[in-house]
Amino acid sequence: MDVLLINGPNLGALGTRKPEIYGNVTLADVEATLGDEARALGLTLECFQSNHEGAIVDRIHEAKREGCRYYIVNAGAYTHTSVAIRDAFESVEIPFVEVHISNVHAREEFRHHSYLSPIAAAVLVGCGVKGYSLALELVAHRLSA
Ligand code: DQA
Repeated sequence: MDVLLINGPNLGALGTRKPEIYGNVTLADVEATLGDEARALGLTLECFQSNHEGAIVDRIHEAKREGCRYYIVNAGAYTHTSVAIRDAFESVEIPFVEVHISNVHAREEFRHHSYLSPIAAAVLVGCGVKGYSLALELVAHRLSA
């Protein structure tokens, strides 16, 4: 596996959850699109979604053992709360791109702080689900550099 896409809590409800903020596209659609784009870029991609902090920590470590070279992560609300997920990324020493569908900086104050951004290779916010594709394009560029 070259790239692991991780989506955190409530992102499994994409498409029906607050469409005025997150749009109408489902997570299955996002994952299928990214799979196609990864193939076209010559990369292998795996996708993982969980509502559970520990499961995300476990998957980050497991991916290292599987030879993962880059993560793309939308940790959802855990972005703003989870030292454990940040520690997992620091521990594996594999770069990641942080993605947020909405512009978190234009929303409630508690969404402005991210535990992940200071250690992210790049951060994409407010691009809608297109942010995942932009992140993948960046990952392909970085891996080939
Ligand atoms: C989100 C923004 C977070 O604040 C929120 O908790 C989410 C989604 C986004 O993609 O815009 O679940 O990460």
